[in-house]
Amino acid sequence: MKIAVAKETRDGEARVAVVPELVGKLTGLGYDVAVEPGAGLHALIADGEYAEAGATVDDAAFEGADLVVSVQPLSAQQIRGLARGTTTISFLPVNQEQQTVVELRDAGVTAHAVELIPRISRAQSMDGLSSQALVAGYRCAIVAAGMLRRFFPLNMTAAGTVQAAEIVVLGAGVAGLQAIATAKRLGAVVRAYDVRAAAAEEIRSMGAKAIELDLETLEGAGGYAREMTEDRADRQRELLTPYIAAADALITTAAVPGRPAPLLVTRDMVEQMKPGSVVVDLASESGGNVEGSVAGEVVRIGNAQVWGGRNVPSQMPGPASKLYAQNVVNLVTLMTAKDDEGSSVFSPDYADEILSGSCVTQDGRIVHEPTREAIEGAPAPEPEPAATSDDVPDEPSAPQDPQLDLPYDQEADQ
Ligand code: NAI
Repeated sequence: MKIAVAKETRDGEARVAVVPELVGKLTGLGYDVAVEPGAGLHALIADGEYAEAGATVDDAAFEGADLVVSVQPLSAQQIRGLARGTTTISFLPVNQEQQTVVELRDAGVTAHAVELIPRISRAQSMDGLSSQALVAGYRCAIVAAGMLRRFFPLNMTAAGTVQAAEIVVLGAGVAGLQAIATAKRLGAVVRAYDVRAAAAEEIRSMGAKAIELDLETLEGAGGYAREMTEDRADRQRELLTPYIAAADALITTAAVPGRPAPLLVTRDMVEQMKPGSVVVDLASESGGNVEGSVAGEVVRIGNAQVWGGRNVPSQMPGPASKLYAQNVVNLVTLMTAKDDEGSSVFSPDYADEILSGSCVTQDGRIVHEPTREAIEGAPAPEPEPAATSDDVPDEPSAPQDPQLDLPYDQEADQ
């Protein structure tokens, strides 16, 4: 059994899918581990560290591999170099990467998308979205602290007192809670808001103040947020305006699975912020929570510097790679079984919802139905049987929950 670790090819990607300290886990499962030369370079991991850990460092790492692991989707060229039947594990945002999905389908690759791993308790150790959101949330708070030209904590000195910075965090999921925790550790006064009912308690448990708005909460499938109506979005923006105007730094991390990021803060709201304020928009790449934010850039809006996040986890490639590698190793462990003689075999069981749920292409087909439909169109309708007088007319069908066809639409198993 052979597992290959790809050198990332996408611009700006500094992470790597396996770190040397986890090579032993994979060899312990019975795999030969082959790493493409330079795979860890941007995460400051030398080829020699992989070799010392028991991997081979090899230009032809993909040759004969049962499994190829990467952070970003493989390039078209890398995919064409894979033998039919090879399995891949990577992030694979199916909506944005339709051409890659087609390449994977046509190459006969069994491709797993980390984003599609069901968010059930058993899958938490494999949940790459959570592990990378944790890194991103921390980074957002550190960026805000670095850009803000004042202390985060209260300082009481002989010369007098300097007040703590006031931070507002919008969106208190995995990234938002980590941003809150980090800003609190740095001593800031933190207020936060999220549309989910459970979030207020989670915000308070981090030592922050929950912003309570006179609005209904929004829960979607599996404990996630639902998209707001335009009326509710307007009202939310109106009610949040004074909190944002009073903040020294605003950090936004709100997302709705499978949808563009919700617009939480208009340009007009940013223009009401104080001179020297800072805005950090983690959602910049997926449309932005803040109007006018640009992914990968700092722009000025009114008195504020607005930082747009771009591949934020990759800005801390060492810890992000380690956490992702742990997710990968746990997923590979699930794909590995024992044969009758007790030897390890690479034998994914597609009756397992974690593996079937995350699988996008297999045997030359797109098996993730929403993606298949988006790329190949709706299947031809079954020919209707001739109607008989006994036929009972169908009930009118219930309106479809738009969340149901989302890649993230997974039931929590609690
Ligand atoms: P996410 O990245 O999809 O969204 C981030 C946050 O934005 C969410 O908390 C969401 O409620 C919030 N949001 C959406 N629209 C908003 C709006 N208009 N205004 C303010 N906030 C808005 O979510 P994430 O962080 O991936 O997970 C959310 C929750 O899912 C977690 O807090 C947790 O309860 C659950 N979860 C469960 C896991 C598991 O069981 N394996 C793993 C990870 C998360």
